[in-house]
Amino acid sequence: MAKKKIVVLTGAGVSAESGVSTFRDSDGLWENHRVEDVATLEGWYRDRKMVLDFYNERRAQLPQVKPNAAHIAIASLEKDYDVQVITQNVDNLHERAGSTRIIHLHGELTKARPENCYNEMDGFSEESVLDIGYESIHIGDLATNGSQLRPHIVWFGEAVPNIGKAIDAVEQADILLIVGTSLQVYPAAGLYAYAKASIPIYIIDPKDVPVRDTRLMHIRDVATRGMQTFIETISKQ
Ligand code: APR
Repeated sequence: MAKKKIVVLTGAGVSAESGVSTFRDSDGLWENHRVEDVATLEGWYRDRKMVLDFYNERRAQLPQVKPNAAHIAIASLEKDYDVQVITQNVDNLHERAGSTRIIHLHGELTKARPENCYNEMDGFSEESVLDIGYESIHIGDLATNGSQLRPHIVWFGEAVPNIGKAIDAVEQADILLIVGTSLQVYPAAGLYAYAKASIPIYIIDPKDVPVRDTRLMHIRDVATRGMQTFIETISKQ
């Protein structure tokens, strides 16, 4: 029998217990920076060095943080289910926990791309994206097209090139699991609306969630414990 398809949409809360800060639990500041300064194209053009330093620091911290039990539980679902992870996170903790099918909606810290291959219609070309691991990007580091390298991060106001793939995955899901996202940022926040009418939707979050849907089961807990509850619940079905 074909395995059931589980789509897991994750946000900053899944990495919180690994010690990575969430965005909206800290007064609109991200690691003490205003989002407008470090997560917009305007901020980049205003002060490229500051933006590069900010992401260089986040990237350098990555090897020191480890996947937690929630990332590992999500990866372990692959034993019994056909699993697609869709994450808004730019860390690599799902990869390091062993998940094999991951769509990064908002980019990846371990990648860079030229600043001038971006356009409003297509976002950026996939071929121009470079794997840089945990290395820093400096002013003067150029891509083969001669333009400055920038972090491979989707900033506010930019296109979300992977949203089409994410919608396709949610449309196919037999179970949708949402973990640790405030569902404040679109288009990611609207993804659950693409789920088939008949499927169960689980949300793991210790706080209230902004979703009113009869299919919804809210597991009001942190991601590590919430994943245990989720696995116990679906294994009885
Ligand atoms: N376990 C599960 N959920 C948690 C935990 C935890 N241990 N700790 C906090 N949370 C929940 C919070 O209650 C909140 O609902 O995680 C959510 C985090 O929400 P945000 O900080 O808004 O993060 P996220 O939803 O991922 O943000 C979306 O916004 O700034 C942009 O591009 C950035 O990808 C990011 C996007």
